[in-house]
Amino acid sequence: MARKSTPNTLVVVGVQWGDEGKGKVIDVLAEKADILVRYQGGNNAGHTVIADGEEFIFHLIPSGLLHPGKVGLLGNGVVIDPEALVDEMSRLRNRGINVEKAVKISDGAHLIFPYHKRLDAAREAIATGRLGTTRRGIGPCYMDKVARVGLRVGDLADTNAFAEKLRRNVDEKNQLLQAIYNEKPLSFDEVYARYRDFGRILAPHIVYAPRFLRDAIAAGKRIVFEGAQGTMLDIDYGTYPFVTSSNATSGGVCTGAGVPPTVIGRVLGVVKAYTTRVGEGPLPTEFSPDLMEAIRTKGKEFGATTGRPRRCGWFDAVVARHAVWINGCHSIAVTKLDVLDEMETIQICTGYRDGKKIIEDFPADMETLARCKPIYETFRGWRSDTSGVDRFSRLPKAAQAYLRRIEKLVSVPIALISTGSAREQMFTTTAWKLS
Ligand code: IMP
Repeated sequence: MARKSTPNTLVVVGVQWGDEGKGKVIDVLAEKADILVRYQGGNNAGHTVIADGEEFIFHLIPSGLLHPGKVGLLGNGVVIDPEALVDEMSRLRNRGINVEKAVKISDGAHLIFPYHKRLDAAREAIATGRLGTTRRGIGPCYMDKVARVGLRVGDLADTNAFAEKLRRNVDEKNQLLQAIYNEKPLSFDEVYARYRDFGRILAPHIVYAPRFLRDAIAAGKRIVFEGAQGTMLDIDYGTYPFVTSSNATSGGVCTGAGVPPTVIGRVLGVVKAYTTRVGEGPLPTEFSPDLMEAIRTKGKEFGATTGRPRRCGWFDAVVARHAVWINGCHSIAVTKLDVLDEMETIQICTGYRDGKKIIEDFPADMETLARCKPIYETFRGWRSDTSGVDRFSRLPKAAQAYLRRIEKLVSVPIALISTGSAREQMFTTTAWKLS
């Protein structure tokens, strides 16, 4: 297929440890898009969108589907808990969305089963080696994918073959659950009956994703690929082992959605004006307890999926630079600037100190990272309300200086600034287009 110009495709990825506000950014960008695609992760994600004053949390279906007439695709890199998907589809239906037309599912996406969730929780219950997962069965499902014993959405169609593969899995997992984790076994009959029902519900939504996207691109459709989690939770480029089990970075788009790299038009990194993470693992710029409490309360920093309090810290330019490179970000969106409105002073981490050495690149090994101390630049706070501001020049001078410094440190422009949770509380700083 000869193509004359770069397709109208945009990848939106998290620059930090997830929860950067991608849901809102995608919801706003979705207005100009035709198709929204999730390419990795599962219902460990929680993308909060506030539309017409009402909150909607997406876990599996791409954010943006609250706009009527959009199509959302779950790519083969996504792991699908059908129970969660069916529930989300019915919540969307209640909001007036034509789910029958709007939701497409790749036949190659792997299915999460109750034994994955049980194994995830059982491992997390052991204190040593605890990762602080969402316990949604994400890791164990990807383990089965790589071990080549997983079941895919496409398997639901052939009930006999499906039953046989499922039985082998239930038998094996029951042995693990009983012998290693001292847990009760699962009933094959119950699991099979439930998944057969899910198979019937999901059947009309199943597509062969590479073909679906090839046709869409050929027809000039505008596509947004939506990353879940964030760069520092990427299985390869995050703070391993305290990461999720998929490639949350833009590299995951090709394998996780079924498109070649040459169709990727632009990459937008989403970054909070400060930093947060949920779960275990290093967070070099973590706040002291009193500051943590203040920012957590103002920023409502509680997990959208698990409700866990998020750990908060200063903006870390070492992390952001690493993410901008690995994702190939053309620009970034800075969210939740308003959360810093009341601060007297604000800090940005520009590098780390490891003994006498200054480190500007994110360390590949966690032992080095554990020794690193952040080097900070201090900024005057603006101490005024930015939540209604609609253009850069109307931001307080101190806020402008803070953002300009971030831009300089990451070497790409800030394309979008968000100063609140509503759709209207976001403005572009450049002539922003989808591609
Ligand atoms: P898992 O993805 O449930 O296996 O969890 C692995 C790590 O990723 C844990 O630290 C989780 O808290 C974190 N995590 C997974 N999904 C998200 C998300 O959407 N936002 C923030 N953290 C997440």
